[in-house]
Amino acid sequence: MKERIEQKFREIFGAEPIMYASAGRINLIGEHTDYNGGFVFPGAVDKCIMVAIRPNGTDTVHVYSLDLDKRADFGLREEDAPKDQWARYVFGVCRETIKRGGKVEGFDAVFAGNVPLGAGMSSSAALESAFAYALNDLFNDNRIEKFELARIGQDTEHNYCGVNCGIMDQFASVFGKEGCLMRLDCRSGEYQYYPFKPVGYRLVLLDSQVKHELVGSPYNRRRQSCEYVAQTLGIETLRDATMDDLNRIEDKISEEDYRRARYVIGEKDRVLAVCDALERGDYETVGRCMYETHDGLSKDYEVSCEELDFLNDIARENGVTGSRIMGGGFGGCTINLVKNEIYDKFIADAKAKFAEKYGHEPRVIDVVISDGARRLD
Ligand code: GLA
Repeated sequence: MKERIEQKFREIFGAEPIMYASAGRINLIGEHTDYNGGFVFPGAVDKCIMVAIRPNGTDTVHVYSLDLDKRADFGLREEDAPKDQWARYVFGVCRETIKRGGKVEGFDAVFAGNVPLGAGMSSSAALESAFAYALNDLFNDNRIEKFELARIGQDTEHNYCGVNCGIMDQFASVFGKEGCLMRLDCRSGEYQYYPFKPVGYRLVLLDSQVKHELVGSPYNRRRQSCEYVAQTLGIETLRDATMDDLNRIEDKISEEDYRRARYVIGEKDRVLAVCDALERGDYETVGRCMYETHDGLSKDYEVSCEELDFLNDIARENGVTGSRIMGGGFGGCTINLVKNEIYDKFIADAKAKFAEKYGHEPRVIDVVISDGARRLD
């Protein structure tokens, strides 16, 4: 992929580029907790977005998406925003860097990636983080600190792409480290690396290859529900709420908002339970929590869909240790913690049953936990 991108850059711009990459992510547990001030447990993966880039000495950006075979040209002022969604990610990163006092001048760029689109592995965060990292290195002597690079990506989603996402994806993409998951406290920004090598198990994603989400609106509505419940409780985020608190205001909120908050409160505790279990090497508990998360996301938070519930059922039937929907939801993939000895049978069964019902096999993605944003030599 790297050579292909470099080659295209030379072809279009007639110069040698500098290469950067940033990764997609998985999340072991802690879903829809980030914007509630809770904990998440992601890691970067070996699927990434690569960017070939070079300052061009003008005040215009020329960027080409190799996968889409599309080019966009835009200036760096707010009114220069491009129309195409894919180009708005790049434009947003430039603008958010500038808003923070960072320097951005014109550049030429070509990018491509192998993060599956729509799988819930955050291809957009990988794109934002790769550009945020590159602009920091090329124009700002790496003065912008890493957490701020993640926020640049997050604010790009908020201000240029219509998704009021939390910080998890961009954090994972920027901070990812080979072989390690990371527990991030989304309220304080504190994080720890957890080496993750579950002996006797494999982590695998089954991508349903379906996407039901329409832009960011159902996601944003979930967030609004949480904020409304927190407000009713007189607290800043649901991080500070207990089930007792929630039950006290049950008659003041809708039944739907009650269920949304019930899921978040449970999930917050599950992340901590999983951390403890991992320290003991207790993968049965990790797996049980994953199933509980799936049930919560499906029934209370209602971000699952028929295809993902079906994949989850197949995992249960096969005795898979843990399985759940991963990422924002409304399609995408399940993440599965599977004992080595049943792996082949489970994958074969999932492929056959899913294909029989939906006409296509799920894509099998083996998880390799890798580095996040970086300059490539
Ligand atoms: C999306 C968002 C994240 C997070 C997850 C759900 O991936 O971008 O911020 O909220 O959904 O955990």
